[in-house]
Amino acid sequence: MVYRVPKRILLTGGAGYIGSHTYVALRQAGHDVVILDNFSNARRSVVARLEQITGAPVPVVEGDIRDNALLDRVFTDHRIDAVVHFAALKAVGESMAKPLDYFDVNIGGLTTLLRAMDRAGCRRIVFSSSATVYGVPDETPTPETAPFRAMNPYGQTKILGEEMLAWLAQSNPDWAIGVLRYFNPAGAHRSGLIGEDPADIPNNLMPFVAKVALGELDRIAVFGDDYDTPDGTGVRDYIHVEDLARGHVLSLGRLFETGQGHCVNLGTGRGYSVLEVIAAYKRACNRDLPHHITDRRPGDVPIYVASADKAAEVLGFRTEKGLDEMCASSWNWVSNIGETA
Ligand code: NAD
Ligand code: UD1
Repeated sequence: MVYRVPKRILLTGGAGYIGSHTYVALRQAGHDVVILDNFSNARRSVVARLEQITGAPVPVVEGDIRDNALLDRVFTDHRIDAVVHFAALKAVGESMAKPLDYFDVNIGGLTTLLRAMDRAGCRRIVFSSSATVYGVPDETPTPETAPFRAMNPYGQTKILGEEMLAWLAQSNPDWAIGVLRYFNPAGAHRSGLIGEDPADIPNNLMPFVAKVALGELDRIAVFGDDYDTPDGTGVRDYIHVEDLARGHVLSLGRLFETGQGHCVNLGTGRGYSVLEVIAAYKRACNRDLPHHITDRRPGDVPIYVASADKAAEVLGFRTEKGLDEMCASSWNWVSNIGETA
């Protein structure tokens, strides 16, 4: 059930990939939404795109989640009812090279935000976590009860964030906290106006494939074909970013309805191999997608597939879009507008 009473929601990192899609979903659900973003990993043009999609001005505060005074002003000026906290650094390789940056933004930033929320008496938050908290899971599909295993500083910050939030909820029952563990977000908004837009050569599969389809990169390196999977390549649970965005609307609804927290996976419960993704993208773009097999990527996990049962039970969340729609919407975004954004 979708909670229908309009609320004022702050989206930290709301100009980013998942945040911008969630902005649209929350506006469509009738909420007032304010974005706080320092644009370290987003283009300013996304704001005009959001205005075009929603047909209304988009309230944006440009600034950093580590800025106490700014946060106090935002909570006072906008009388925020709840926060969805996307703002974080998210590149695994970079986190190995610069762990302090990750602790600073992902842990320091979270602490500063929670303190400001506490001062303002705003104690409803949805936190962006990740399947990466499971490390190499023993069980597939992976349930929420699987143990935490940090594989790198990025994953460690998500584990620490979840643990901080759990202790906070225990310390004061006024806190209602939704933890959402995303599997592999993919695709773009149906309008073709917003999507994933990495500044550098992409680390993740789908944006890399998109750049090969555009002709900006020559060929896809498939990282290993000797895994214990049906075709030997890595398997992931890709989830359409519009489905993922809807999960946040449901999570907030649940927090307001029950005053109780929850922790759920957001995935489809079905996995696709690297070769299946390439084949699906090929169907979407109708171009050749040259690829070759290379060594495994160090630290890679053979299979990540979510157990999607708890999200269905607790939030009533079910995905509606499959891999073909993820590839088609990605191609629509990158081929029409992404390159000129
Ligand atoms: P993104 O980089 O597109 O969005 C993050 C946004 O936060 C950006 O707009 C960036 O400018 C902003 N930001 C970063 N540091 C900030 C700071 N100090 N103050 C204010 N704004 C700041 O990333 P995304 O893919 O949309 O991811 C959103 C969240 O979901 C992150 O917490 C990420 O760790 C998590 N997550 C992402 C994925 C994925 O594959 N994309 C998977 C699992 C979890
Ligand atoms: C990565 C992150 C993970 C994060 C997740 C979602 C790493 C090691 N892990 O995981 O922490 O939670 O993104 O954002 O970066 N692949 C190729 N060629 C490529 C790129 C990827 O074959 O050029 C393969 C990978 O080996 C994997 C699959 O494609 O089997 C998906 O990779 P990717 O998109 O990077 O996501 P994750 O590995 O799940």
